[in-house]
Amino acid sequence: MDVLEAIRGLRVVRRYADRPLEATHLEAILNAGRRASSSKNRQRWDFVVITDRDGLRTLSEVGPYAGHVAQAAAAVALVYPSPSGEAPHSTNWDLGLASQNMILAAWSLGIGSCPITVYEPELARTFLGYPADHACEQLLVFGYPANPDDLTRPLRRGRRRPLGEIVHREHW
Ligand SMILES: Cc1cc2nc3c(=O)[nH]c(=O)nc-3n(C[C@H](O)[C@H](O)[C@H](O)COP(=O)(O)O)c2cc1C
Repeated sequence: MDVLEAIRGLRVVRRYADRPLEATHLEAILNAGRRASSSKNRQRWDFVVITDRDGLRTLSEVGPYAGHVAQAAAAVALVYPSPSGEAPHSTNWDLGLASQNMILAAWSLGIGSCPITVYEPELARTFLGYPADHACEQLLVFGYPANPDDLTRPLRRGRRRPLGEIVHREHW
């Protein structure tokens, strides 16, 4: 799939078919995340993959907008070393790049995804078991769309601010 075409069509998918991701698809998604650039190439990320239905149900409690995690085929928890006071820390940027790589790789394979914000960090920590000096603020969830039209339906008009409103040339 052409990159520009993928970016133009990409949308969040929150309703998933009840079938697991093909192993080769899941691996391609994780590899796309691994391949991302990062500040000083430090690659300060670990990906915890959850495909077990009970685990996904537990993760659907991490925040008020996470209910659909229970129906997803897989979740990838983005775990990173907690900021140590160094500034700029840059992990948000790094994780964003890795995330968008995974999201676009999934899209190119006919797989929908949605970022999920963790509002209950202790639930995530207890359930996922990552080290005490690490944190997790986001999950990515993946699944083949329940409605295949989700992969081709254009975004509704007005879903993105127009260039004329956000681009400032030479100065603000
Ligand atoms: C950092 C971040 C956090 C998000 N958290 C959630 C979330 O907790 N639950 C959810 O359903 N969607 C979440 N989203 C998805 C956004 O709501 C979605 O990207 C936005 O509404 C645009 O959707 P569209 O691409 O389908 O137009 C999040 C997106 C981002 C980038």
